[in-house]
Amino acid sequence: MSKLQVDFPRAAVYMDGIESAGWQAKAQRAHDLLHGKGGPGQKWLGWLDPLAPDDEEVRQITETAEGIRARAEALLVIGIGGSYAGAKAAIELLTPHFSNQLPLAERKGPAVYFLGQNLSASYINSVLSILADKDVEINVVSKSGMTTEPALALRIAWDWMTQKYGRQETARRIIATTDRTRGALRGLAEREGWRTLVVPDDVGGRYSVLTAAGLLPMGVAGLNIRELLAGAQEASAEYAVPDLDANGCYRYAVWRNELYRQGKQIELLAAYEPAFAAFAEWWKQLFGESEGKDGKGIFPAAAQFTTDLHSLGQFIQDGPRHLFETVLWVARTGSERMVPDLPGDPDGLNYLAGKSVTFVNEQAYRGTVEAHQDGNVPNLLLTLAQLDERHVGHLFYFFEKACALSGYLLGVNPFDQPGVEAYKNKMFQRLGKPGTNG
Ligand code: PA5
Repeated sequence: MSKLQVDFPRAAVYMDGIESAGWQAKAQRAHDLLHGKGGPGQKWLGWLDPLAPDDEEVRQITETAEGIRARAEALLVIGIGGSYAGAKAAIELLTPHFSNQLPLAERKGPAVYFLGQNLSASYINSVLSILADKDVEINVVSKSGMTTEPALALRIAWDWMTQKYGRQETARRIIATTDRTRGALRGLAEREGWRTLVVPDDVGGRYSVLTAAGLLPMGVAGLNIRELLAGAQEASAEYAVPDLDANGCYRYAVWRNELYRQGKQIELLAAYEPAFAAFAEWWKQLFGESEGKDGKGIFPAAAQFTTDLHSLGQFIQDGPRHLFETVLWVARTGSERMVPDLPGDPDGLNYLAGKSVTFVNEQAYRGTVEAHQDGNVPNLLLTLAQLDERHVGHLFYFFEKACALSGYLLGVNPFDQPGVEAYKNKMFQRLGKPGTNG
């Protein structure tokens, strides 16, 4: 039984003629390109074989995380894109809501804050002021070591730390996760004597969640990173077969490509647990940067249900028919709350008394799927058996592989991001960066 069930309840309506469209043959070709390492971006396929839980590198990451957990009250993670989104996603999924606000004894580990994922002065000031009276360590994550947002945040946080602890102590409190040999961050870390972890050469930013880039912050937050990797390894075995009937990950990739072919240009990832908000950001980054190029691609959008049923719900039900939904449902969340019985039924809700909130959520989920499908919005359903490290590791791998296969099915290179340079060039010109035409 897979940890993740993949369904398309009204597949017959949209996938009629799936054989004639030759999807199995196309999936086989994309699979061969991926596993034969013969497709575009083939030097970025290191994530295909996740780290083994007993790998020496995992021991090193775990030990580093344990050291930080023993010393610090808070970890400041500095990074952007693939160098922060995965860690944030996993931590928010696998720690209690509002975790950073809980007393240390009630948390799984030090509070984790993120910086360098925007250029907002007010955000930077708020994070640093929250950290003012805390014992802090920094993990700066940048594969290229050259990205402006985290580089600027690091400069500010480093200066702030130096004033707090002095230069020598600050050096003991910074860990850089970056390329093995290249980039400004590598040079800086070596000059300052900071400890370092490595993002492997053959793994690009948005596929790096299960490398040191994501695993160190997760380990500091108290997540069991060996279990995450075990989940990813199980998924890599499960999704290694090219047969669509046997491979839910490939079926999902094929379904979304066929829906795109039929004019569904937007994919809305909807989850019924708010803990998925950061995960949805990771997913958007993965698919958006991987597929949106050469004038092609499905636009990845996300919604939190039932919250957004009171905002986007109207548009989904009655707006243009150019979207499909991928709905994430967790079968067992591990947390429950019962609806109390109130004497006299003052609010008319006694018909729910004795039922669980999850039961109500589930009826909302099932009812919404039906309503949206009746409104001609195709719904792809992903049911995660439960929310723990193993299942989340599985889910990360599922989407990484689905994204890579989708990119090949679409005929793009899912591992580059040439379009990201355009805003940087304009920004650098305006900032007068040396070497640009500013
Ligand atoms: O997927 C990618 O490659 C990007 O989103 C990067 O993760 C992002 O730009 C950050 O890059 P870096 O880690 O080099 O700072």
